[in-house]
Amino acid sequence: MSTNLKNVKRVTTHVLQEMKADGVKIAMLTAYDYSLARLVDRAGIDVILVGDSASNVMAGHETTLPITLDQMIYHACGVVRGSERALIVVDLPFGTYQGNSKGALNSAIRIMKESGAHAVKLEGGKEVLTSIERILTAGIPVMGHLGLTPQSIYKFGTYVVRAKEQEEADRLRADAKLLEEAGCFALVLEKIPAKLAAEVAASVQIPVIGIGAGAGVDGQVLVLHDMLGINQEFNPRFLRRYADLHGVITGAVSGYIKDVRAKDFPNNEEQY
Ligand code: KIV
Repeated sequence: MSTNLKNVKRVTTHVLQEMKADGVKIAMLTAYDYSLARLVDRAGIDVILVGDSASNVMAGHETTLPITLDQMIYHACGVVRGSERALIVVDLPFGTYQGNSKGALNSAIRIMKESGAHAVKLEGGKEVLTSIERILTAGIPVMGHLGLTPQSIYKFGTYVVRAKEQEEADRLRADAKLLEEAGCFALVLEKIPAKLAAEVAASVQIPVIGIGAGAGVDGQVLVLHDMLGINQEFNPRFLRRYADLHGVITGAVSGYIKDVRAKDFPNNEEQY
């Protein structure tokens, strides 16, 4: 197998599998709307995650818990319209899959049918296995998510690094195996020690995408608004900022206000 990404018209779960087999790192970013999805897709991203982090960065909530299935579908529809090449994965929001496999299946079907996305992601291991299995029976690809799972923030009580202790690390290793055996096509590992993440990535055949999980995994994911520097308040160690959109946008808006006040905008060429 050899991945020629130039010839890929649409990234599929099989392409990601090939990338892992060939040692080609997978680049994944979040997006929540048409315009930014279009930019991200045209720049060549492999996977777009319509993350429930939309609850934070789009809606301004403190946690990911409040976002609803209807809201996730709304975001996903825009992203699907804006993308031609990336695989589009949509988060199942809190309360739509835990402890209820029939509800999980219905939620996943709604996402696929109403948005046109290609896969769903959900958080957790053994405790959500029956939901994962039931979604998979409908032919819907599932991405798992272990480590720091933000929908469980009130159980954790803090956003610190997970699985530093032996017991939690062992549970994570076992959950990763379980999700692979169940048929998940990929896994996200969030905020765990790099050594553990690398070990997990080497122990499973499916691609493992990390966020705050070091370089020894098969790919990386970041929240788009964080890596573009829109949000200045969020400064975890794992975050690399590739732009300062906070500065760019603030500067542009200040310039516009100044020009309007000074009656400099619009000028003669900018009117009819
Ligand atoms: O919702 C999200 O953005 C995520 C990523 C942090 C992986 O789940």
